[in-house]
Amino acid sequence: MSQAALADPPRRLSDLPGPPGLPLVGNSLQIEPARFHQQLEAWGRTHGDPYRLRLGGRRLLVVADPAAIAAALRDRPAVINRTDRLVRGAAELGFAGVFASNGEDWRRQRSMVMAAFDPGHIKSYFPSLVQITQRFQRRWHRAAEAGSAIDLGADLMRYTVDVIAGLAFGADINTLESDDDVIQRHLDQIFPALSRRLQAAFPYWRYVKLPADRRLDRHVAALREAVQGFIAQARARLAADPALREQPRNLIEAMIVARDNPASGLSDRDVAGNVLTMLLAGEDTTAHTLAWMLYLLSRHPAALARARDEVRAVLGPERLPSRPEQLAALDYVEACAHETMRLKPVAPLLVMQAARETVVAGVALPPGGLMVFLSRAGSLDARHFAEPEVFEPARWLKDAAGPLAAPGSAKRVSMPFGAGPRICPGRYLALLEMKMAIAMLLGSFEIESVDTPDGGPAQERMAFTMSPVGLRLRLRRREPEAA
Ligand code: HEM
Repeated sequence: MSQAALADPPRRLSDLPGPPGLPLVGNSLQIEPARFHQQLEAWGRTHGDPYRLRLGGRRLLVVADPAAIAAALRDRPAVINRTDRLVRGAAELGFAGVFASNGEDWRRQRSMVMAAFDPGHIKSYFPSLVQITQRFQRRWHRAAEAGSAIDLGADLMRYTVDVIAGLAFGADINTLESDDDVIQRHLDQIFPALSRRLQAAFPYWRYVKLPADRRLDRHVAALREAVQGFIAQARARLAADPALREQPRNLIEAMIVARDNPASGLSDRDVAGNVLTMLLAGEDTTAHTLAWMLYLLSRHPAALARARDEVRAVLGPERLPSRPEQLAALDYVEACAHETMRLKPVAPLLVMQAARETVVAGVALPPGGLMVFLSRAGSLDARHFAEPEVFEPARWLKDAAGPLAAPGSAKRVSMPFGAGPRICPGRYLALLEMKMAIAMLLGSFEIESVDTPDGGPAQERMAFTMSPVGLRLRLRRREPEAA
């Protein structure tokens, strides 16, 4: 930005261009919830950056410039926050926790969560990750033998929930090998419900419960019971082995120990809220990213072949990784993850609220002012990535050369995990999990097809996170197991 521009007085939200709306409702009636992100991105192409939007009585600033977004995300928690709506909506659904809190409340919880997800801790979890991935391999062996199509999204969520429950709660829930009433059935209801409620013109559910709200209440109650179960198991472990209080082995034990110290300021509600937060934050995001990655690889045979060759060279005679060093050597697979998250970030919209008067993207906002960050817009802009619509994982390799190589600023433009003090604490785990799952798949199977419901390109569906609709995977075993 030029010095002159820096010196310009901030603009007012009401002076910005934006899509024309109706009196009172503004743009509300134009919104299609499942395509909300695509609509906001399209309006950005028409009205420029930044622009304004009006949803009923709420006026929002919509920003696409990655530098302005990163600056605002760094300005947390003092100036920029998660929205009041999110904080209240999450609490109503039982996951008041580190994701849905602000200010001091947030700070108290964040350091504890960070400790549980640091790379050293995740490394010591590696043997359990291998065990869970072996179960995943067995599940897909059975599907390949039976010649059946795999519901990709559902199976990936079994994997991600088993991983997060093991890491954060020390609980082996093994949904990969269960066909019972798995916890995902309830988890899957929460983000779509939250998404609907965040967009609702009026919070009617606080006054009247429709049948859908009563059904939702039953899912929330089932989850509350599951969460209490994890907490009870962890308390039993702490009672049986008091030495664990000095060295808790996972997040839930650390939270209970902290909760039992009156100086911590943590409550039972904080512990329960964070348990559910981990399940929700760890499930969809990683599973949807993996689903997008498999979809994109299936549509780009050269990239798929390169990833498969890398995996098989690194694994040698093994069919899935058994040592962390093997995952560390999968540079191209990791590049595939970065390229997938550039084109298909599962959080393409980040909605924030000003804690006090501030200026974002050159626009003055009052305390409580709302803003939406279009986190994919910069990644699809030719000023930042050459031929931005092309899936080219190699652009992310360290020694990348040629016209498509990602510039030095790439990681400041593509921010799939957010930025600043509230950047995703699960990002190392997510990358490890994704590399593990892809290595198992490419080491053990040949991909026959990744099909969409209508044979066309995969549709993006927004329900708080952005997922591909209805992918079905068909696999063939790489070679018959020796008898
Ligand atoms: C590919 C996978 C994932 C993606 C793309 C992703 C993305 C994100 C994004 C965009 C945010 C908001 C960051 C911000 O406000 O700046 C976030 C926050 C968060 N993520 Fe992830 N995430 C992923 C996996 C995970 C996993 C595996 C966990 C572990 C349970 C996790 C836990 C969290 C938590 C607790 C927060 C809230 C942090 C805070 O507000 O301080 N995420 N994630």
